Amino acid sequence: MPICYHENSRTFHLYNDDVSYLMQVLPNGQMGQLYFGRKLRDREDFSYLVRTEERAMNSYTSEDRERRLSLQQVRQEYPSYGTSDFRSPAFEIEWQDGSRVSDFCYASHVIFKGKRKLEGLPAVYVEADGEADTLEITLVDRREGARMILSYTIFRDYGALARSVRIQAGGRGCRLERVMSLSLDLPDADFVSVQLSGAWARERYVKERRLEEGLQGVYSMRGASSSEHNPFLALRRPNAGERSGEVYAVSLIYSGNHLELVDVDHNHVTRLLAGIHPDTFSWKLEPGAVFQSPEAVLVYTDRGLNGMSGIFHELYRTRLRRGIWRDRACPIIINNWETTGCEFTEEKILELADTAKSLGVEMLVLDDGWFGDRENDWTGLGDWYVTNFQKLPHGIAGLAEKVKERGLRFGLWFEPEMVNKDSRLYREHPDWILQVEGRFASPGRNQHVLDFSRQEVVDYIYDAMEKVLGSADISYIKWDMNRYITECGSAAYPADRQGELFHRYILGVYSLYERLIARFPEILFESCSSGGSRFDPGMLYYAGQTWTSDNTDAVERVRIQYGTSYVYPLCSMGAHVSDVPNQQSGRITSMATRSNVAHFGVFGYQMNLTAVTDSEKEEIRRQIAWEKEHRDLIRCGRFYRLRDPFRENTGAWLVVSGDRREAMVGYYQIYREVNTGWDFLKLEGLDPDMLYSVNGGVQVSYGDELMNLGILLDQERFGIAKEDYASIILHIKAV
Ligand code: GLA
Repeated sequence: MPICYHENSRTFHLYNDDVSYLMQVLPNGQMGQLYFGRKLRDREDFSYLVRTEERAMNSYTSEDRERRLSLQQVRQEYPSYGTSDFRSPAFEIEWQDGSRVSDFCYASHVIFKGKRKLEGLPAVYVEADGEADTLEITLVDRREGARMILSYTIFRDYGALARSVRIQAGGRGCRLERVMSLSLDLPDADFVSVQLSGAWARERYVKERRLEEGLQGVYSMRGASSSEHNPFLALRRPNAGERSGEVYAVSLIYSGNHLELVDVDHNHVTRLLAGIHPDTFSWKLEPGAVFQSPEAVLVYTDRGLNGMSGIFHELYRTRLRRGIWRDRACPIIINNWETTGCEFTEEKILELADTAKSLGVEMLVLDDGWFGDRENDWTGLGDWYVTNFQKLPHGIAGLAEKVKERGLRFGLWFEPEMVNKDSRLYREHPDWILQVEGRFASPGRNQHVLDFSRQEVVDYIYDAMEKVLGSADISYIKWDMNRYITECGSAAYPADRQGELFHRYILGVYSLYERLIARFPEILFESCSSGGSRFDPGMLYYAGQTWTSDNTDAVERVRIQYGTSYVYPLCSMGAHVSDVPNQQSGRITSMATRSNVAHFGVFGYQMNLTAVTDSEKEEIRRQIAWEKEHRDLIRCGRFYRLRDPFRENTGAWLVVSGDRREAMVGYYQIYREVNTGWDFLKLEGLDPDMLYSVNGGVQVSYGDELMNLGILLDQERFGIAKEDYASIILHIKAV
């Protein structure tokens, strides 16, 4: 996967077997972008792509009458506003004299094998230098002596590039007002943009719109990546679907405020920007100081949306997630939240543990309510130690021990970033919350956000958590975050640094994760934010899985997991079987459908197992046995979406093993329809020449037949229940 630099034409060409990315130093010294897309043969010169003709209403970069270079007319690598380009810029810097005009020109570059770590920020990584090459281009603004380093890593095996930017102030310092992680100029606007948007309990719904001239995009200014808009945006050709067609996509490895913006200009050039949301960001750089942007992953494929997801899944599963749990299945969990809420006793929990163990469950997770005076969500957050010994007479260590004696691992819930006013922590440190002097601090879920931009606050929470984790046998942490950030001010920073707080907050969260991971490398972390309000690649770097949604209704979950799968691998999506009527939707679905959905994620239970009937227990035993047998296939296999539950009455997906000898299909029907026509479900990813049996011989066919003709979904043959919300799993095995 070479990165070539052609000295004469000053052209950079990054390519692997799938994609090419071309840049050139423009006649004015700034960086131009020439191409990103399917792989091109390398050549010395692509200069014809730099247009230098005169056009009405343009301004130019020089007085030269022959070569009329207008930045408005060329595609640029990392554009600014203020000279001859009027479009949305990738960066904006206020200099000491109050001006915002910049001129960063090519100075030098380095090419090296592998990839550098990003200081204090999550990023994809390599395990061997041969997996990727990196190019770093240094640009200099001569007037200010400021430097900018544009970083590009191209992977050997994926149609993906990781990009980020470092800015170093010159001798006079400056203020960064916008630092996007990447900018991409595409030469036309014939695209449909695809976003993952929603809200609490309906996270990451797939939404599409045709691009038009002007601005369009998604963002968060909530202090977390948010369930409203995931830090992701794809541009697909109108004819691109799941199986084929061109797709460009960007995914930002960041958990705070973000913006993915598309600016289509009057010539239908599409500019795609992704990075920290500039409206809530301002960063003072002292002379010589450096700012590192988050990393963004840019993907191109001509294999449709499934092709795009395949790239993200592999990259994020194996080169973003870390630690010993990256390559292990998460134990099957029973979580007590939907059963007990905060009202439990040790006895109740142990009863749940006993039953869970007898059914084959592997870990018990004690959710909210174990610490301080936590009787409900008005009290206790911040006091990470047991004070209520009526509830937990033997403390956490004692309970963990008892759970372990029963043959289960033990996991624990924390919400480290939060505090209730009714807590010892708040009473002792009322100034430790994010707030603005003289303004009302808006509560959310009766709690406030701790000021994680301050080292002493992070240190305190680290010590408190370290104490609990160090004193008990704890295998797993569910790390929650149940409100967004308001009144983002800090008593610890001067006026001219208040604009840094949203980003500093997230850096504080990352640093706490990093320290806990270093101290407890065996602990499996799951991130959570009222369900999936912070389900983003930044979190996956620290916590390899995320609680996908508080909505555990199986029908709703088909959509939520379907949308989430656009970017995130199944091994990152917490999915539990819960009681019915469902706590959020009130819907009643069969036990089979609930587990048929949850199997396609990180499987577990969030139900009162002590209250289920004997026949339900038998069913749960079967589900757990199924999970143990097939979870490695689900975790590591290649995932394909087959039926879109946002458009159809059914949803379906498929996971195929690496050797293509085995596959598992999940098929979900919403309403039962009667007297329907032919229904063929076409599979993907199989070996066309391999003979497969479906569900132990109900059908035996070659892969080509299963993919091209499809499986005829006969209710009789596959035992699809005659009811709403019926579902089946089809097990495809080579014979
Ligand atoms: C959030 C989480 C839930 C549960 C509760 C506890 O809502 O998403 O799973 O942990 O908090 O308060």
